[in-house]
Amino acid sequence: MSLFLGIDVATTSAKALLVDETGAVIASATADYPLSTPRPLWSEQSPTDWWTGVVACVRQALEQGGVDPEAVAAVGLTGQMHGLVLLDEAGQVLRPAILWNDQRTGAECDLITETLGFERLLALTGNPALPGFTAPKLLWVRRHEPDIYARIAQVLLPKDYVRYRMTGDYATDLAGAAGTLWLDVPGRRWSDEVLAALDVPASWLPPVHEGPQVTGTISQAAAAEMGLNPGTPVVAGGGDQAAQAVGVGAVHPGIVALTLGTSGVVFAPTDQPVVEPQGRLHAFCHAVPGRWHLMGVMLSAAGSLRWYRDTLAPGIAFDDLLAPAVEVPAGSEGLLFLPYLTGERTPHPDPLARGALVGLTVRHTQAHLTRSVLEGVAFGLRDGMELLRTAGAGQPTQVRISGGGARSALWRQIIADVLQTELATVNVVEGAAYGAALLAGVGAGVWPDVEAACTDVVQLTSRVTPQAEAQARYQTLYDQYRGLYPALKPTFESLAETG
Ligand code: XUL
Repeated sequence: MSLFLGIDVATTSAKALLVDETGAVIASATADYPLSTPRPLWSEQSPTDWWTGVVACVRQALEQGGVDPEAVAAVGLTGQMHGLVLLDEAGQVLRPAILWNDQRTGAECDLITETLGFERLLALTGNPALPGFTAPKLLWVRRHEPDIYARIAQVLLPKDYVRYRMTGDYATDLAGAAGTLWLDVPGRRWSDEVLAALDVPASWLPPVHEGPQVTGTISQAAAAEMGLNPGTPVVAGGGDQAAQAVGVGAVHPGIVALTLGTSGVVFAPTDQPVVEPQGRLHAFCHAVPGRWHLMGVMLSAAGSLRWYRDTLAPGIAFDDLLAPAVEVPAGSEGLLFLPYLTGERTPHPDPLARGALVGLTVRHTQAHLTRSVLEGVAFGLRDGMELLRTAGAGQPTQVRISGGGARSALWRQIIADVLQTELATVNVVEGAAYGAALLAGVGAGVWPDVEAACTDVVQLTSRVTPQAEAQARYQTLYDQYRGLYPALKPTFESLAETG
């Protein structure tokens, strides 16, 4: 039986996942790597650390599954989006990669918006200039590190650096390319107009491919390092969110993927390129050929709960922390949590936004605080869902929830009540690497297309139905929650000035 290898170059670790033709997971391995924040707002990583991590976890997965490399029919890549990797003429890394969660490029975003105009930028790329995206990072290097800028010959996204090490080819996928701000998202090709306006040579960018398309094969040198067969095809794959959506079967309009990881994502596939008129949602290409998607990203979802646990309840296991919150009434007796702990993207693209607990009284216990964190994140997700509806992604027929936070039955119920929507869970819990493995399977010809692969292997495992009483209570609180950001915005701005 053929196997497919999905590789995820994620933010804190690399993951290798071997999946067979029935969709069963044969082996899974991860390898951690460090992340550095040399200055406030900066976030960087060494591309060679990604390569070392990928080699280690692929070897480990092959060994764990007792897999003959001959059986691996194709490899699919996914990973953190938006990161900037710079190579010189010889393919050598010029500086540490600047990551998706780096916030240093406010001034460069303003410059891009001034140069192209907000409306034109949105029409061409589907998106406004956000600090996390790739294009402003390159402008930052041009301004601040001209010596490095002068030596650039190739610009890559993180997972495409790993592809280069695997195959020797420069290539990327359309879903990932859409997160650079250089892509003509409706036309599914690099935008000559944006590149010319920003003075970025087109020769620096790799060719773009649809997700299941083969971009190259494993080289002799990489095969020796990774334990794979030389000549094994590697498909384009997709940015982590698109691959995650493939992994849960959110591949056609109507099925919305909700991912409750460190960040919280609502992802709606579309048949046409749809743009939110104020740019409050990301409008990207899907990893499914000829499809697009709209996406809302809140930066601290399960990340908020982790921060809360680590800071206010250190040492307590999540299950023990969450158990008493079940007894607290919906709405936490008037306590509201604003989850902007690392700034925000959707619905308020504002790196200066901050978190808040509003409405504290002496009646509130730790269980109330815990529940209000879960609820505040659910309200943030509702903001994204509301935008999806009004932007024209259509009424979802099903919302599929996944990610680490989705393991909590309490949190799933709160989200269903806040969104006023039934939630479904699926059998796939391996995230983006699983989607990348399915894209490899399509590339290898085992499935005729991505939808057929998903129909074959993704199954629903449970449904959570909203409860009428909680739903009504949350509607009132959601309206109050929505008033918090505009009311606090001036305070966030002055706090940023005073430190
Ligand atoms: C998507 C995004 C994150 C990163 C890191 O827009 O910023 O999903 O790709 O996971």
